[in-house]
Amino acid sequence: MENLTTQVAIIGSGPAGLLLGQLLFKAGISHVVIEQRSAEYVAARIRAGILEQVSVDLLAQAGVDENLKKFGLPHDGIEILTNGLKYRVNLAELTQGKQVTVYGQTEVTKDLMHAREAAGLCTYYEAEHVQIHDFEESPTVTFQQNGQSYRLQCDFIAGCDGYHGVCRASVPQDKIKTFEKLYPFGWLGVLADVPPVSNELIYVQSERGFALCSMRSQTRSRYYLQVPSSDRVDEWTDERFWNELKNRLDDESRENLVTGVSLEKSIAPLRSFVTEPMRFGKLFLAGDAAHIVPPTGAKGLNLAASDIAYLSHALIDFYLNDSEKGIQEYSEKCLKRVWKAERFSWWMTHLLHRFETESEFDHKIKQAELSYILESNAGLTTLAENYVGLPYEIKTLNEIQGSRLDMIEY
Ligand code: APR
Ligand code: PHB
Repeated sequence: MENLTTQVAIIGSGPAGLLLGQLLFKAGISHVVIEQRSAEYVAARIRAGILEQVSVDLLAQAGVDENLKKFGLPHDGIEILTNGLKYRVNLAELTQGKQVTVYGQTEVTKDLMHAREAAGLCTYYEAEHVQIHDFEESPTVTFQQNGQSYRLQCDFIAGCDGYHGVCRASVPQDKIKTFEKLYPFGWLGVLADVPPVSNELIYVQSERGFALCSMRSQTRSRYYLQVPSSDRVDEWTDERFWNELKNRLDDESRENLVTGVSLEKSIAPLRSFVTEPMRFGKLFLAGDAAHIVPPTGAKGLNLAASDIAYLSHALIDFYLNDSEKGIQEYSEKCLKRVWKAERFSWWMTHLLHRFETESEFDHKIKQAELSYILESNAGLTTLAENYVGLPYEIKTLNEIQGSRLDMIEY
């Protein structure tokens, strides 16, 4: 058994764990990342691709925005297609100039991994039997790698190990409450090297079900179809996928759509899930370990980023200012923002998808709600304000050191 020590043990090297590591490194706080998969596996995962302005700002603060600035596509608006009519949501105009940036989570992960490598920071990939111990008082993490056993002693554990991770599962049942909603359909996603059908994302509500036209670049597109939960990927040939997408689009988009060979095809279930609280003594949960949103609002990665903003502020305040305020408030602050994003993601999902169980009356009411939202300035503003992301303050290292924590309430 090899004994190691560090200030913060980070479990999981998804965007949450990697971003936390980078922000702690910048503040001179020691940490170790422990990841059960290989670096290649982590870097290759295809996920969503929309960054809120605050997430872009946080990546800039972490010093990992060089590629994001070069290759990210700022978007001022989105389109919503319903009943054969396309409505533009002018995000920038409705939110005093805010934008979202199209930049794949896969790229965010790679940028963070490269920064980590360049700084010579310690990551244990392919860690096995990862276990966390005594996190109320004196935390340790044990794991194995290449047949060697390790025991890592630390001040805090950051549980950034996703929905299926070990951290949340280690909390005694009577100390944790979970809230969950499953949806009776999934998203079938296809990535293809074809130019996007439009300059902006198109969210499609149709009688045949939801569809989304998104992109990664001017030459790479990402499309999704709502499919029954019971569908299997091998039932969806490329041809069937493109035909069904065309059936859900309007005439103009159908004509503009360029099809091609899929580079990746997968079905993801849709789920809303929240854990309360998000701190258990010296264990913090962040990102997918603490909450899941359906992808309709593009909030998953952005919520992971806001958790990490709060957590890094709290830890920096603790180590640099000797203050426990941020630590004490971590869970409450995160959850306030999390529940608002959960509400928005649930609402977008509810409005834009076809639910087989809904009555004709419910369906008519939903259509009326969507048409109200898209035809009223108040409705559009509500949608836009949530889509670009509710604000929170990102403090620089100097500001945290100078002022102690006084984070905006959101
Ligand atoms: N030990 C170590 N690592 C683990 C363990 C474990 N027992 N269990 C899981 N992990 C790792 C996973 O292999 C993964 O690399 O934790 C990481 C969690 O990463 P993500 O699932 O990407 O979660 P997170 O970093 O919170 O990112 C949230 O990802 O799923 C999307 O929509 C979501 O965009 C959001 C983002
Ligand atoms: C994506 O590009 O993968 C994407 C975009 C917007 C969403 C979800 C996914 O709401």
